[in-house]
Amino acid sequence: MKNNNLELYQKLITKNAHISIIGLGYVGLPLLLALGKEGFSVTGIDIDNEKVEKLKQNISYISDISNKELLDAINTIENVNFANKYDSIENSDAIIICVPTPLNKTKDPDISYIINATEKLAKYSLKNKLISVESTVYPGATEELILPTIIKQNPNLTVGNDFNLVFSPERVDPGQNYWNLKNTPKIIGGITKNCTEIGTALYGTLCNQVVQVSSARAAEMTKLLENTFRATNIGLVNEMAIISQKLNIDIWEIVEAAKTKPFGFMPFYPGPGLGGHCIPVDPRYLDWKLETLNSESKFIKLSEEINFSMPNFVVSRIKDIFKNLNITNPKILILGLAYKPNVSDIRESPSIDIMTLLNKENIKFQYNDPMVKSIEIEGQTYKSQNIDSELLKNTDLAIISTDHSIYNWEYITNNLKYIFDTRNALRNIKK
Ligand SMILES: NC(=O)c1ccc[n+]([C@@H]2O[C@H](COP(=O)([O-])OP(=O)(O)OC[C@H]3O[C@@H](n4cnc5c(N)ncnc54)[C@H](O)[C@@H]3O)[C@@H](O)[C@H]2O)c1
Repeated sequence: MKNNNLELYQKLITKNAHISIIGLGYVGLPLLLALGKEGFSVTGIDIDNEKVEKLKQNISYISDISNKELLDAINTIENVNFANKYDSIENSDAIIICVPTPLNKTKDPDISYIINATEKLAKYSLKNKLISVESTVYPGATEELILPTIIKQNPNLTVGNDFNLVFSPERVDPGQNYWNLKNTPKIIGGITKNCTEIGTALYGTLCNQVVQVSSARAAEMTKLLENTFRATNIGLVNEMAIISQKLNIDIWEIVEAAKTKPFGFMPFYPGPGLGGHCIPVDPRYLDWKLETLNSESKFIKLSEEINFSMPNFVVSRIKDIFKNLNITNPKILILGLAYKPNVSDIRESPSIDIMTLLNKENIKFQYNDPMVKSIEIEGQTYKSQNIDSELLKNTDLAIISTDHSIYNWEYITNNLKYIFDTRNALRNIKK
């Protein structure tokens, strides 16, 4: 280890470092609380002043963190601050970037948030500091995009010597409690070996296992392999669902049976499409990078095609059902708006695509989601309806789009005429 880094290394392993987290969303806020609980002094920075003000009043805006959990965590942290300015960077030893990396209108990576955050932090002297990027980016972005932005404003600093830069992808899975920051191995790849060692010193305090890879580029690619693996396998099982329907076979029975094989098979489940900030988005980052090299990924394109066609598949099946039942002005209830159970996150949710398609077809619908109070679809605001016998009696068919565990399926099925279950939520209900 270079001498310049020894002091930083010591501060990190003894948890005497000050850490600033940039971007306090689903990734940044839990990370800040976890690092604070470990004993680090922490500052959370977010450009969204509303979020900063809420945090100052101990109000959580993330469904995975209740107000009580937030307050309890904050009470155990000795030194915690929230700000919408970057001043804390000056006295920080480590800075972690957790800003969004969505797609723009043309479905290309929108790296404006990353650039904006890097430009702002690079205004401060980064000497003897660690910068870790947790936002998902395309392979090469930390070295080709973030490093030059830092060097432009800190031309006298050398990476791996004067300051350290790593990519360490977040692997959080919102809505489930078993896998957390502690027991999920953490991937880390630095621009130099020194950077990786310094990054490992930080994350080793928080995670049971830190997995070093050879470079930041390798860490970026690891994250994209993980999420592309999910997206393509979901694409495969969605296609199997379409095939099974044509063959009059129950896909859910098939997946349950196949998963009894103790080796060589891993279950993935069909659904109304892909949602969330990661699985529909991340493979596109890889594909975009390939396009810049005049290449492409056939798997990514094919699975995108299948996964993004699923809301269409659902709506065309619904139309067929109404045709067969001779119902001309059907009333539909959509159950669940969030992209996955037990979260309020509606980013890229296929339920929104289903609603938009129904709207285009002039088919009336209402929705219920206990975690999403209202939504705007093509200029019209819809409010979550209370599930009561009156609502269910006036519904011709309900589409189960998200199987939140709060739903009482027994009650719902007993009071409804028809249900289109895209999630196998009714697996335990007697037919
Ligand atoms: N949500 C997940 O499950 C998940 C899992 C793994 C990885 N990721 C990745 O982590 C990153 C963050 O995702 P997220 O879900 O936490 O996003 P988010 O939208 O919930 O939070 C990002 C926060 O960054 C803030 N922000 C934007 N620009 C900023 C700036 N210049 N300075 C300070 N704050 C800024 C936003 O106001 C927002 O509060 C993304 O790259 C995402 O792909 C997300």
